[in-house]
Amino acid sequence: MINMWDILTSFTDVKTILLTLVFILVIGYVISMQERSGIPPGPSYWPIVGNMLDIRGKRVGKRHKYYAELQEKYGDIFRIYFGNQLLVVLNDFESIEDAFVKQKDLFSSRPVDKLWGIQQTVKDGKGVLWASGQEWKDARRMTVRALRDLGVGKTTLEDRIKEEAKIILDYITACEGKPFKVHDIMMKATTNIISTVVFGKRYDYSDLDFLQIIKVLEINFKGEMGVFSPIHQFPMLRFIPVLAAKILTARNSVEKVKQFIADRIEEHKEVFDKNDIKDFIDVHLDMCASGASDVTSEGNTKRTILSLFLAGSDTTATTLDWALLYMILHPEVQKKCQEEIDSVVGNIRMVGWSGKSKLPYNEATLLEVQRIANAVPNTVPHTTDKDAVVKGFLIPQGSLVYANLYACHLHSRYWKEPLQFKPERFLDDTGTISKQTAATLIPFSIGPRICVGESLARMEIFLFFTNLLQRFSFSTSGSEKPSTDGICGVSMSTPEYTLTATPR
Ligand code: HEM
Repeated sequence: MINMWDILTSFTDVKTILLTLVFILVIGYVISMQERSGIPPGPSYWPIVGNMLDIRGKRVGKRHKYYAELQEKYGDIFRIYFGNQLLVVLNDFESIEDAFVKQKDLFSSRPVDKLWGIQQTVKDGKGVLWASGQEWKDARRMTVRALRDLGVGKTTLEDRIKEEAKIILDYITACEGKPFKVHDIMMKATTNIISTVVFGKRYDYSDLDFLQIIKVLEINFKGEMGVFSPIHQFPMLRFIPVLAAKILTARNSVEKVKQFIADRIEEHKEVFDKNDIKDFIDVHLDMCASGASDVTSEGNTKRTILSLFLAGSDTTATTLDWALLYMILHPEVQKKCQEEIDSVVGNIRMVGWSGKSKLPYNEATLLEVQRIANAVPNTVPHTTDKDAVVKGFLIPQGSLVYANLYACHLHSRYWKEPLQFKPERFLDDTGTISKQTAATLIPFSIGPRICVGESLARMEIFLFFTNLLQRFSFSTSGSEKPSTDGICGVSMSTPEYTLTATPR
């Protein structure tokens, strides 16, 4: 016979269990949403996913605009949650300088242990980009030495850049006035410059190994493993078949490039001569031979070489892509750049690096392109080694910290009419570059983690840009003006556009 009392008690038990569960969940939720007092303000967020879902739909590729909304609402330092990981964004020069320069001992590490995808890729060596502490200092010293000794600022590398510029000029001539995409060709040119630095040679644009390197760069800049991918906080996503396939493709192509690098290292070993250091691999072999450093493990060197391709190709190519986009949108600026080149260099010899100070309008134009376009909108993530305080806000140990260079370059505190393209803003009354105006322009970041390839990048941008303008006039290929609404991934790409070139 059914005992009503049993039913009632069992019902109560179920109810009690359910209520207890709900209670535990609520307490868990409240605890997980507790924030340490003093951290920067920021938007409300969901348990587990944090603010990851905020960048969806129309906001995909518009992270810079999402950050601008948050800056407007919460001020120059705000926080969001990447999953349950605290992420602090610094949006003005003073906070970036305070953190990355004045408190450099607290802010110069990279958060590899917080980013699953990065952990996977650096298992046999972090290289200069992802290492921290002494390991990073050693890798950085090796990289700086390679870039310095291989002649950045001297003639050899300049000559290689000019050679590459001639190849681009021939390519454009062969287009015979038909529309073409700037980024594709610039990507090949800038990748070849890195190739010259690390392997001591350039590759034909149709070489399969060379194209494989470019493929890896594209996957890293546009693909699932970028530092903003949810996979870093939710590695389980890798089991979703479509993502699994993409990750496998990315991994396989990186492995192929690593094997290619390993083969080049073996080739270099056979002909190594310590009195004739020709490229980055030679610097690595020299440091190994002299026992100068224990980071010269082959894994680390391979990873540093990969980092140079990753950090040095797309960034420079994208800056040049923006430079030509702004030239077709501002033909009057293009004309002034050309007039300056014509009067100082003429049209017979190529523009050289030593002529830069005599071409201030061209230089101002390139600075303005870097300011307004922001090819690298945010720094690589930094992390805090201990609790730190910036502008009175607590930034706890282990936070992810980004400098929002895009916001800094468009901040009305430093720039009059920040959305206007005006190269003149960088020129003083005497027509030379105003150091004061340029002081808050930091496209290469600041502090110990500042871009290690800054000098090389500046030389490439200047030489490619001026030598193209010396020979061609660029204009829009369609009736409509291309937009300048950038697409924000690791780099800020231009919207798709083509242009045409007319020989001068
Ligand atoms: C216009 C072109 C370039 C721009 C705008 C740019 C910008 C940057 C930025 C913003 C960072 C992050 C700094 C930070 O985390 O605080 C960086 C790091 C880095 N860049 Fe560049 N970069 C450019 C070209 C290059 C080139 C040509 C190379 C290679 C020769 C290079 C190699 C690196 C490396 C290795 C790092 C990591 C440095 C470290 O962690 O110590 N970059 N770059």
